[in-house]
Amino acid sequence: MKYAVLGATGQLGRQFCKRLSGEAAPLARDQVDLTRPETAPLVLGALRPEVLINCAAFNFVDRAEKESADAFAVNTHGVRELALACRDFDCTVVHFSTDYVFGLDQKRRTPYAEDDPPGPVNVYGTSKLAGEYLVRSCCSKHFVIRTCGLYGVGGSGGKGGNFVETMLRLAQAGKPLRVVADQVCTPTYTSDLANAVVELIATQRYGLYHLTNANACSWYEFARAIFELERVRADLTPIASAEYAVPARRPVYSVLSTSLYESLGFAPLRPWREALAAYLHERQQRAPPNA
Ligand SMILES: NC(=O)c1ccc[n+]([C@@H]2O[C@H](COP(=O)([O-])OP(=O)(O)OC[C@H]3O[C@@H](n4cnc5c(N)ncnc54)[C@H](OP(=O)(O)O)[C@@H]3O)[C@@H](O)[C@H]2O)c1
Repeated sequence: MKYAVLGATGQLGRQFCKRLSGEAAPLARDQVDLTRPETAPLVLGALRPEVLINCAAFNFVDRAEKESADAFAVNTHGVRELALACRDFDCTVVHFSTDYVFGLDQKRRTPYAEDDPPGPVNVYGTSKLAGEYLVRSCCSKHFVIRTCGLYGVGGSGGKGGNFVETMLRLAQAGKPLRVVADQVCTPTYTSDLANAVVELIATQRYGLYHLTNANACSWYEFARAIFELERVRADLTPIASAEYAVPARRPVYSVLSTSLYESLGFAPLRPWREALAAYLHERQQRAPPNA
Protein backbone atom coordinates (compact mmCIF):
# COMPACT_ATOMS: atom_id res chain seq x y z
CA MET A 1 0.00 0.00 0.00
CA LYS A 2 1.47 3.35 -1.03
CA TYR A 3 -0.31 5.49 1.58
CA ALA A 4 -1.41 5.11 5.19
CA VAL A 5 -3.88 7.59 6.67
CA LEU A 6 -3.84 8.17 10.44
CA GLY A 7 -6.93 9.79 11.92
CA ALA A 8 -9.02 7.91 9.38
CA THR A 9 -12.17 8.39 11.48
CA GLY A 10 -11.89 12.20 11.38
CA GLN A 11 -13.31 14.50 8.71
CA LEU A 12 -10.03 15.09 6.84
CA GLY A 13 -8.85 11.51 7.29
CA ARG A 14 -12.11 10.18 5.84
CA GLN A 15 -11.68 12.47 2.85
CA PHE A 16 -8.16 11.15 2.15
CA CYS A 17 -9.37 7.56 2.46
CA LYS A 18 -12.09 8.32 -0.10
CA ARG A 19 -9.70 10.18 -2.44
CA LEU A 20 -7.06 7.44 -2.24
CA SER A 21 -9.47 4.54 -2.13
CA GLY A 22 -7.63 1.29 -2.89
CA GLU A 23 -4.23 2.98 -2.42
CA ALA A 24 -4.44 3.85 1.27
CA ALA A 25 -4.53 1.87 4.50
CA PRO A 26 -6.89 3.66 6.94
CA LEU A 27 -5.44 3.77 10.46
CA ALA A 28 -7.57 4.47 13.51
CA ARG A 29 -6.52 5.19 17.06
CA ASP A 30 -6.69 1.52 18.08
CA GLN A 31 -3.90 0.80 15.56
CA VAL A 32 -1.69 3.88 16.01
CA ASP A 33 -2.31 5.86 19.19
CA LEU A 34 -0.22 9.02 19.30
CA THR A 35 -0.07 8.76 23.09
CA ARG A 36 1.46 5.27 22.84
CA PRO A 37 4.82 5.74 21.09
CA GLU A 38 5.38 2.01 20.56
CA THR A 39 2.38 1.73 18.21
CA ALA A 40 3.61 3.78 15.22
CA PRO A 41 6.83 1.81 14.54
CA LEU A 42 4.95 -1.48 14.84
CA VAL A 43 2.33 -0.51 12.29
CA LEU A 44 4.69 1.29 9.91
CA GLY A 45 7.06 -1.68 10.06
CA ALA A 46 4.25 -4.04 9.12
CA LEU A 47 2.65 -1.87 6.39
CA ARG A 48 5.76 -0.11 5.01
CA PRO A 49 3.79 2.74 3.36
CA GLU A 50 5.70 5.23 1.20
CA VAL A 51 3.64 8.11 2.60
CA LEU A 52 1.97 8.48 6.01
CA ILE A 53 -0.75 11.15 6.04
CA ASN A 54 -1.36 12.24 9.63
CA CYS A 55 -4.82 13.73 10.13
CA ALA A 56 -4.96 12.82 13.84
CA ALA A 57 -4.89 15.59 16.41
CA PHE A 58 -6.18 16.77 19.76
CA ASN A 59 -8.51 19.32 18.19
CA PHE A 60 -10.55 20.61 21.12
CA VAL A 61 -9.44 24.24 21.18
CA ASP A 62 -11.29 25.23 24.35
CA ARG A 63 -10.68 22.01 26.27
CA ALA A 64 -6.94 22.31 25.51
CA GLU A 65 -6.70 25.34 27.82
CA LYS A 66 -7.34 23.08 30.84
CA GLU A 67 -6.19 19.79 29.33
CA SER A 68 -2.88 21.07 28.05
CA ALA A 69 -1.03 17.86 28.95
CA ASP A 70 -3.38 15.90 26.68
CA ALA A 71 -3.05 18.45 23.85
CA PHE A 72 0.77 18.33 24.01
CA ALA A 73 0.78 14.52 24.40
CA VAL A 74 -0.97 14.14 21.03
CA ASN A 75 -0.10 17.26 19.01
CA THR A 76 3.54 17.54 20.07
CA HIS A 77 5.13 14.49 21.71
CA GLY A 78 3.05 11.92 19.83
CA VAL A 79 3.69 13.68 16.55
CA ARG A 80 7.46 13.65 17.23
CA GLU A 81 7.40 9.88 17.75
CA LEU A 82 5.41 9.48 14.55
CA ALA A 83 7.88 11.62 12.58
CA LEU A 84 10.82 9.62 13.98
CA ALA A 85 9.14 6.36 12.99
CA CYS A 86 8.57 7.75 9.48
CA ARG A 87 12.25 8.72 9.26
CA ASP A 88 13.32 5.24 10.40
CA PHE A 89 11.14 3.55 7.74
CA ASP A 90 12.08 6.06 5.00
CA CYS A 91 8.45 7.12 4.76
CA THR A 92 7.31 10.63 3.80
CA VAL A 93 5.22 12.22 6.56
CA VAL A 94 2.37 14.57 5.70
CA HIS A 95 1.25 16.48 8.77
CA PHE A 96 -1.50 19.08 9.26
CA SER A 97 -1.18 22.22 11.29
CA THR A 98 -3.36 25.24 11.75
CA ASP A 99 -3.88 28.98 11.19
CA TYR A 100 -4.02 29.12 15.01
CA VAL A 101 -0.20 29.21 15.08
CA PHE A 102 -0.82 32.94 14.39
CA GLY A 103 -2.80 35.56 16.27
CA LEU A 104 -0.40 37.37 18.59
CA ASP A 105 -0.12 40.29 16.16
CA GLN A 106 -3.58 41.80 16.64
CA LYS A 107 -3.06 44.54 14.04
CA ARG A 108 -2.26 42.17 11.18
CA ARG A 109 -4.71 42.37 8.23
CA THR A 110 -2.71 40.81 5.36
CA PRO A 111 -2.39 37.07 4.68
CA TYR A 112 0.38 35.26 6.53
CA ALA A 113 3.22 33.61 4.61
CA GLU A 114 5.01 30.48 5.77
CA ASP A 115 8.04 32.50 6.88
CA ASP A 116 6.07 35.02 8.95
CA PRO A 117 6.91 34.59 12.63
CA PRO A 118 4.20 32.54 14.32
CA GLY A 119 2.63 33.60 17.61
CA PRO A 120 -0.18 31.42 18.91
CA VAL A 121 -2.67 32.83 21.42
CA ASN A 122 -3.94 29.55 22.87
CA VAL A 123 -2.69 26.16 24.08
CA TYR A 124 -3.99 24.27 21.03
CA GLY A 125 -2.08 26.57 18.63
CA THR A 126 1.07 26.30 20.76
CA SER A 127 0.91 22.49 20.86
CA LYS A 128 0.41 22.39 17.08
CA LEU A 129 3.29 24.81 16.47
CA ALA A 130 5.61 22.68 18.61
CA GLY A 131 4.46 19.63 16.64
CA GLU A 132 5.30 21.38 13.36
CA TYR A 133 8.84 22.12 14.51
CA LEU A 134 9.36 18.52 15.59
CA VAL A 135 8.10 17.05 12.31
CA ARG A 136 10.36 19.43 10.37
CA SER A 137 13.41 18.62 12.48
CA CYS A 138 12.88 14.84 12.83
CA CYS A 139 11.96 13.72 9.31
CA SER A 140 13.43 15.45 6.26
CA LYS A 141 10.83 13.94 3.91
CA HIS A 142 7.95 15.99 5.30
CA PHE A 143 5.05 18.11 4.19
CA VAL A 144 3.68 20.25 7.02
CA ILE A 145 0.47 21.87 5.86
CA ARG A 146 -1.23 24.69 7.74
CA THR A 147 -4.90 24.91 6.94
CA CYS A 148 -8.01 26.54 8.41
CA GLY A 149 -11.67 26.08 9.35
CA LEU A 150 -12.20 22.58 7.95
CA TYR A 151 -15.60 21.19 7.03
CA GLY A 152 -16.22 17.93 5.27
CA VAL A 153 -18.96 15.41 4.79
CA GLY A 154 -19.58 13.57 8.04
CA GLY A 155 -17.98 16.31 10.10
CA SER A 156 -15.44 16.07 12.88
CA GLY A 157 -16.31 13.04 15.02
CA GLY A 158 -14.94 14.41 18.27
CA LYS A 159 -16.62 17.80 17.80
CA GLY A 160 -19.94 16.30 16.72
CA GLY A 161 -20.15 17.71 13.20
CA ASN A 162 -18.75 20.89 11.72
CA PHE A 163 -19.64 24.58 11.63
CA VAL A 164 -21.90 24.24 8.57
CA GLU A 165 -23.89 21.36 10.06
CA THR A 166 -24.17 23.11 13.42
CA MET A 167 -25.50 26.31 11.81
CA LEU A 168 -28.07 24.42 9.73
CA ARG A 169 -29.19 22.29 12.68
CA LEU A 170 -29.67 25.29 14.98
CA ALA A 171 -31.44 27.36 12.30
CA GLN A 172 -33.81 24.51 11.50
CA ALA A 173 -34.60 24.21 15.21
CA GLY A 174 -35.54 27.92 15.12
CA LYS A 175 -32.77 28.92 17.53
CA PRO A 176 -31.43 32.49 17.45
CA LEU A 177 -27.83 32.48 16.25
CA ARG A 178 -25.14 34.89 17.43
CA VAL A 179 -21.96 34.45 15.41
CA VAL A 180 -18.65 36.31 15.74
CA ALA A 181 -18.04 38.90 13.04
CA ASP A 182 -14.55 39.96 14.14
CA GLN A 183 -12.60 36.75 13.49
CA VAL A 184 -11.52 36.54 9.86
CA CYS A 185 -10.04 33.44 8.22
CA THR A 186 -10.69 31.09 5.27
CA PRO A 187 -13.01 28.13 5.85
CA THR A 188 -11.78 25.19 3.79
CA TYR A 189 -13.54 22.22 2.24
CA THR A 190 -11.75 18.95 3.08
CA SER A 191 -12.40 17.64 -0.44
CA ASP A 192 -10.49 20.54 -2.05
CA LEU A 193 -7.71 20.24 0.50
CA ALA A 194 -7.25 16.48 0.08
CA ASN A 195 -7.16 16.72 -3.74
CA ALA A 196 -4.55 19.49 -3.59
CA VAL A 197 -2.40 17.68 -1.04
CA VAL A 198 -2.28 14.49 -3.11
CA GLU A 199 -0.91 16.57 -6.02
CA LEU A 200 1.53 18.37 -3.73
CA ILE A 201 2.90 15.06 -2.39
CA ALA A 202 3.65 13.96 -5.96
CA THR A 203 6.02 16.94 -6.42
CA GLN A 204 8.32 15.71 -3.62
CA ARG A 205 8.96 19.42 -2.88
CA TYR A 206 9.07 18.85 0.87
CA GLY A 207 8.49 21.68 3.32
CA LEU A 208 5.99 23.87 5.14
CA TYR A 209 2.97 25.05 3.12
CA HIS A 210 -0.20 27.06 3.67
CA LEU A 211 -3.22 25.57 1.93
CA THR A 212 -6.82 26.80 2.18
CA ASN A 213 -9.63 27.77 -0.14
CA ALA A 214 -9.24 31.29 -1.57
CA ASN A 215 -10.43 34.64 -0.15
CA ALA A 216 -11.53 35.25 3.43
CA CYS A 217 -14.57 35.94 5.58
CA SER A 218 -15.67 36.29 9.16
CA TRP A 219 -17.56 33.42 10.80
CA TYR A 220 -20.67 35.63 10.62
CA GLU A 221 -20.22 36.07 6.84
CA PHE A 222 -19.68 32.34 6.48
CA ALA A 223 -22.89 31.59 8.40
CA ARG A 224 -24.81 34.11 6.27
CA ALA A 225 -23.53 32.44 3.08
CA ILE A 226 -24.63 29.00 4.37
CA PHE A 227 -28.18 30.25 4.88
CA GLU A 228 -28.26 32.14 1.56
CA LEU A 229 -27.06 29.15 -0.43
CA GLU A 230 -29.40 26.74 1.38
CA ARG A 231 -32.29 29.26 1.25
CA VAL A 232 -32.83 28.81 4.99
CA ARG A 233 -34.36 31.62 7.02
CA ALA A 234 -32.29 32.12 10.15
CA ASP A 235 -32.35 34.51 13.07
CA LEU A 236 -28.67 35.44 12.68
CA THR A 237 -26.94 38.29 14.55
CA PRO A 238 -23.29 39.39 14.23
CA ILE A 239 -21.51 39.72 17.56
CA ALA A 240 -18.02 40.65 18.77
CA SER A 241 -15.71 37.97 20.19
CA ALA A 242 -15.87 39.81 23.51
CA GLU A 243 -19.59 38.97 23.70
CA TYR A 244 -18.95 35.24 23.23
CA ALA A 245 -17.21 33.84 26.29
CA VAL A 246 -15.04 30.80 25.56
CA PRO A 247 -11.95 29.55 27.41
CA ALA A 248 -9.48 29.87 24.50
CA ARG A 249 -8.60 33.13 22.80
CA ARG A 250 -8.84 33.04 18.97
CA PRO A 251 -6.91 35.03 16.36
CA VAL A 252 -8.72 38.12 15.09
CA TYR A 253 -7.21 37.58 11.65
CA SER A 254 -5.55 34.34 10.51
CA VAL A 255 -5.80 34.31 6.73
CA LEU A 256 -3.04 32.23 5.16
CA SER A 257 -1.32 33.16 1.90
CA THR A 258 -1.07 30.19 -0.46
CA SER A 259 1.53 31.87 -2.74
CA LEU A 260 4.21 29.28 -1.97
CA TYR A 261 1.91 26.43 -3.04
CA GLU A 262 0.97 28.42 -6.19
CA SER A 263 4.67 29.04 -6.95
CA LEU A 264 4.95 25.30 -7.68
CA GLY A 265 2.63 25.84 -10.65
CA PHE A 266 -0.68 25.02 -8.95
CA ALA A 267 -3.80 27.16 -9.32
CA PRO A 268 -5.19 28.53 -6.07
CA LEU A 269 -8.00 26.48 -4.58
CA ARG A 270 -11.45 27.84 -5.48
CA PRO A 271 -12.93 30.68 -3.39
CA TRP A 272 -14.49 29.62 -0.07
CA ARG A 273 -18.01 30.52 -1.23
CA GLU A 274 -17.79 28.23 -4.30
CA ALA A 275 -16.36 25.46 -2.14
CA LEU A 276 -19.20 25.89 0.35
CA ALA A 277 -21.76 25.62 -2.47
CA ALA A 278 -20.09 22.39 -3.62
CA TYR A 279 -20.18 20.99 -0.08
CA LEU A 280 -23.86 21.86 0.33
CA HIS A 281 -24.57 20.18 -3.00
CA GLU A 282 -22.63 17.05 -1.97
CA ARG A 283 -24.45 16.72 1.35
CA GLN A 284 -27.79 17.06 -0.45
CA GLN A 285 -26.84 14.23 -2.82
CA ARG A 286 -26.11 12.07 0.21
CA ALA A 287 -29.29 12.91 2.12
CA PRO A 288 -31.79 10.04 2.26
CA PRO A 289 -34.86 10.53 -0.02
CA ASN A 290 -37.62 12.68 1.63
CA ALA A 291 -35.17 13.82 4.31
N1 LIG B 1 -11.02 21.11 12.04
C1 LIG B 1 -10.48 22.28 11.73
O1 LIG B 1 -11.20 23.28 11.58
C2 LIG B 1 -8.99 22.39 11.51
C3 LIG B 1 -8.44 23.66 11.20
C4 LIG B 1 -7.07 23.75 10.98
C5 LIG B 1 -6.27 22.63 11.08
N2 LIG B 1 -6.82 21.44 11.40
C6 LIG B 1 -5.95 20.26 11.49
O2 LIG B 1 -6.34 19.37 10.48
C7 LIG B 1 -6.17 18.02 10.91
C8 LIG B 1 -7.45 17.23 10.71
O3 LIG B 1 -8.50 17.80 11.49
P1 LIG B 1 -9.98 17.20 11.47
O4 LIG B 1 -10.93 18.34 11.58
O5 LIG B 1 -10.14 16.21 10.38
O6 LIG B 1 -10.00 16.44 12.86
P2 LIG B 1 -11.14 15.47 13.48
O7 LIG B 1 -12.26 15.29 12.54
O8 LIG B 1 -11.45 16.01 14.86
O9 LIG B 1 -10.38 14.09 13.62
C9 LIG B 1 -9.34 13.93 14.54
C10 LIG B 1 -8.81 12.53 14.40
O10 LIG B 1 -7.72 12.36 15.31
C11 LIG B 1 -7.85 11.11 15.92
N3 LIG B 1 -7.13 11.08 17.19
C12 LIG B 1 -7.32 11.87 18.27
N4 LIG B 1 -6.44 11.53 19.25
C13 LIG B 1 -5.69 10.50 18.76
C14 LIG B 1 -4.62 9.73 19.28
N5 LIG B 1 -4.16 9.91 20.52
N6 LIG B 1 -4.06 8.78 18.48
C15 LIG B 1 -4.52 8.57 17.23
N7 LIG B 1 -5.55 9.24 16.69
C16 LIG B 1 -6.13 10.21 17.45
C17 LIG B 1 -9.36 10.95 16.11
O11 LIG B 1 -9.67 9.60 16.37
P3 LIG B 1 -10.99 9.18 17.21
O12 LIG B 1 -12.09 9.10 16.18
O13 LIG B 1 -10.62 7.86 17.79
O14 LIG B 1 -11.23 10.25 18.25
C18 LIG B 1 -9.84 11.44 14.73
O15 LIG B 1 -9.73 10.41 13.78
C19 LIG B 1 -5.66 18.11 12.35
O16 LIG B 1 -4.26 18.07 12.37
C20 LIG B 1 -6.10 19.49 12.79
O17 LIG B 1 -5.28 20.02 13.83
C21 LIG B 1 -8.17 21.29 11.61
